[in-house]
Amino acid sequence: MNVPFLDLGAATAELSADLDAAYRRVSRSGRYLLGPELEAFEAEFAAYCGATHCVAVGTGCDALALSLRANGIGAGDEVIVPGNTFVGTWLAVTAAGARPVPVEPDESTYNLDPARIEAAVTPRTRAIMPVHLYGHPADLDAIAAVAARYRLTVIEDAAQAHGARYHGRPVGSGPAAAAFSFYPGKNLGALGDGGAVVTGDADLADRVRLLRNYGSRVKYQHEIAGTNSRLDELQAAILRAKLAHLSAWNARRAAVADRYLTELADLADALVLPEVAPWAVPSWHLFVVRSRRREELQRELADAGIQTLIHYPVPAHLSPAYAHLDLPAGSLPISEALAGEVLSLPIGPHLSDTAVSAVVSAVREIAAQTHQRGVRVH
Ligand SMILES: Cc1ncc(COP(=O)(O)O)c(C=O)c1O
Repeated sequence: MNVPFLDLGAATAELSADLDAAYRRVSRSGRYLLGPELEAFEAEFAAYCGATHCVAVGTGCDALALSLRANGIGAGDEVIVPGNTFVGTWLAVTAAGARPVPVEPDESTYNLDPARIEAAVTPRTRAIMPVHLYGHPADLDAIAAVAARYRLTVIEDAAQAHGARYHGRPVGSGPAAAAFSFYPGKNLGALGDGGAVVTGDADLADRVRLLRNYGSRVKYQHEIAGTNSRLDELQAAILRAKLAHLSAWNARRAAVADRYLTELADLADALVLPEVAPWAVPSWHLFVVRSRRREELQRELADAGIQTLIHYPVPAHLSPAYAHLDLPAGSLPISEALAGEVLSLPIGPHLSDTAVSAVVSAVREIAAQTHQRGVRVH
């Protein structure tokens, strides 16, 4: 059986009538930007996150960068970021004009380790940007405690965490700004790019709103040097249709994750499975295992028809884009080890039970053969 990593077309097929209706509604409305669909989506997504404000923008990267700019963070400032994340987290800091300063993750949750943040704080540090990586919430209370000690702003990168919960609270419902991505493969994905800032801070929301629209409230009057980054009416209408299914889709992801966790639990010699912290209800954007023989595992799974991906193979500090930071190989050993070992198994709201069984038996078979050859894999 062939199991694709993620079947994006399945969500579109499930909702085809709703998506067609969304298209018809917008195309006939004559309003394509900053209209009623955007307004309605912002209200609905804020409510979903348990937040009071949502400002939807062009991309997740923009949501992060505009959150920084709205806090007055830019040239000469430093922002603490995880060493292991999608490079977009770092690029948003760079786009705002600030410098990303990496901190190693906690080895069990792969999230920013609060205990290591303090050592990275300098007089230039202005913000901490935890990432709810793979949909597992970072330890926000511990991070907020460090932030309070040094008067730093917290901006959450929630690009992978729509619907995740921290101590029972939805990600995005806290006092900090949380930035979401609606890239098509996300738990809530547009049919193109999109992003949003969710916050309880009315002033911050107002500044992001200003920044996303040329720094203008009234046409041709520009209060600040903003940019053009607005979620368009069509994507907003599509996201409204999909938002109605997000809780059910996340529940299906959790069921898939539960099966992997249960049915692969005895393979401790072959795989490190994801750990869920006591405070966390993950959104299970990704189901990431670790193996020291990751390349072989990926190849053997591919031979069995199972598509896997690597999130992420090159840590940001080792990519040419960040050569100027002068952080050579070896400077972030945990992030670098993760980049060499992580492998994402197929997960998604439309993955069938048969497909999950196929993944489980392929992984089990490969682990058994490896065991017979006497190879320890982690
Ligand atoms: C952790 C993380 N941060 C930032 C981004 C950037 O979001 P976007 O692609 O919508 O700009 C993404 C996703 O792509 C992401 O996964």
